[in-house]
Amino acid sequence: MKQLTSQSLRELYLSFFKEKGHKIIPSASLIPENDPSVLFTTAGMHPLVPYLLGEKHPEGTRLTDVQKCVRTGDIEDVGDPSHCTFFEMLGNWSLGDYFKKEMIAWSFEFLTSEKYLGIPVEKLAVTVFEGDEDAPRDEESAGYWESAGIPKNRIFYLPKKHNWWIAGNVGPCGPDTEMFIDRGRPCGPDCSPACSCGNFLEIWNDVFMQFEKKADGSYEKLKQRNVDTGMGLERTLSILNGVPTVYDTDVFEGAKHEIENLTGKKYGESDEITKAFRIILDHVRTATFMLGDQKGVTPSNVDQGYVLRRLIRRAVRYGRQIGLNAGDLSKISLKFVEKYASVYPELEENKEKIVLELNKEEEKFSKTLNDGLKEFNKVLNYVTGNVFPGKTAFRLFDTYGFPIEITTELASEKGFTVDREGYEEAFKKHREKSQAGSENKFKGGLAEQNETTARLHTATHLLNAALKVVLQDENINQRGSNITVERLRFDFNFDRKVTPEELEKIEAWVNEAIEKDVPVVMEEMTVAEAKEQGAVGIFTSKYGDRVKVYTIEGYSKEICGGPHAKSTGELKKFKIKKEEASSAGVRRIKAVILD
Ligand code: ALA
Repeated sequence: MKQLTSQSLRELYLSFFKEKGHKIIPSASLIPENDPSVLFTTAGMHPLVPYLLGEKHPEGTRLTDVQKCVRTGDIEDVGDPSHCTFFEMLGNWSLGDYFKKEMIAWSFEFLTSEKYLGIPVEKLAVTVFEGDEDAPRDEESAGYWESAGIPKNRIFYLPKKHNWWIAGNVGPCGPDTEMFIDRGRPCGPDCSPACSCGNFLEIWNDVFMQFEKKADGSYEKLKQRNVDTGMGLERTLSILNGVPTVYDTDVFEGAKHEIENLTGKKYGESDEITKAFRIILDHVRTATFMLGDQKGVTPSNVDQGYVLRRLIRRAVRYGRQIGLNAGDLSKISLKFVEKYASVYPELEENKEKIVLELNKEEEKFSKTLNDGLKEFNKVLNYVTGNVFPGKTAFRLFDTYGFPIEITTELASEKGFTVDREGYEEAFKKHREKSQAGSENKFKGGLAEQNETTARLHTATHLLNAALKVVLQDENINQRGSNITVERLRFDFNFDRKVTPEELEKIEAWVNEAIEKDVPVVMEEMTVAEAKEQGAVGIFTSKYGDRVKVYTIEGYSKEICGGPHAKSTGELKKFKIKKEEASSAGVRRIKAVILD
């Protein structure tokens, strides 16, 4: 097998698929654009959902990329050898273009050819879908594997639990075929890729997306047959290079040395120290990517900002255990900026913000961490039984800034559980305030959101245009945009409060456009053409060569991935709910459309 660096693996993958007629597209933001059902982009296919469902992609029907992803379901497990909250996913897509035959032949070629990964065939095993009432046994894929050169006894048929892929509960999905490296240490005669003994390591997944799962659990055939593939960069790298964990790959090298320099401790010195290193490495890397993202997250008590806060504070806590001091996290973070800047230029662009926000959050938490820990230990001393009181957990949050997950983790280290009900009770007031936000994240999903978010997207374009007109400032630009099924949120640069009179005028301007029922017209063009036509939008690497420009004649012209209403009349009525500061020099407007 080839010894590769992260950069050479990225390049190999992209160049392979470029040769097969794919357009290389840049990584989308970590914050999903059109999907209020999740907080972060969790797979390469995520930003491509509208195209998998049938919308035309401006770059064509064959795409490939390296996508930044964040999965935060297992934050407490980070510290063990395998969990990470951030990772990069190499992927390629057929949007109604090629299907199983080509994809399996290419997968085999990329994995085994000396020019690419050079994995010996005998080390490979693959799985295919065994079939059920929703889709047939995938003998077709098995056949292609066999003709490529995988022996029959290395092809395993597995059920939906293993060989069916979907992001969340609804949306595009289908049977998949997964590729594994066999480490040659089977746990017994029945050892297979379905086994969790660790002998078979998954490196690639080809999903044959032909269905859309609806909210009622039914599967509807898609207009087109797609391929969606995903290969975890760090994981594949560690397997190819034969290093024990992802933390031993080159992406962590510089940051790891920085922690060693700052603390005088060595990674691997003891289990406890290794665990702390991994937590700091993972959490600081993820925080760096969140803060430095095109759409930029900042620490807060809700949504993405809360996850970021949790990560930074957990890193601070483990950092203190091995001797990191205030200001050190940002030094570690800079090593990640250095490592990744050539692939993700937004990190370099947002370097100052990353350092500033990390230092701010670290300082905030450092001030109360020791007192909070004292309080925690004091309470432990007089608690009888093994349940940590919910009220104290709330006080630790409210007064000392301990996210409940940190208190729970601390308690579990001492053999206690936290009285979550008592905590929730004490937290009720705060929760009521932020509940709408988080509950929406689990409602409806992709299917339901389509129409509403399309209308809110169009409303966002009108709002963006209205701000420039009413506030008489051509330099106003989008600094962030987030749409849930309930509302739009728009951040823009402006250095004072927008007065109530101005807000009224903005509303009136948008409502006038709505009353006129102006068509929303989409055209594809190059970035240069879009600029020339005066389209607004963020002209960054987020977009490929060709972009979509949405024009609302007389009102707005803006680059956007969509989707949009067909005409402004669909918006019915626009209402601003709130105007507030978002950060220095940036204002935030929340608005809704009323039926
Ligand atoms: N979407 C598939 C995955 O994430 C390829 O594994």
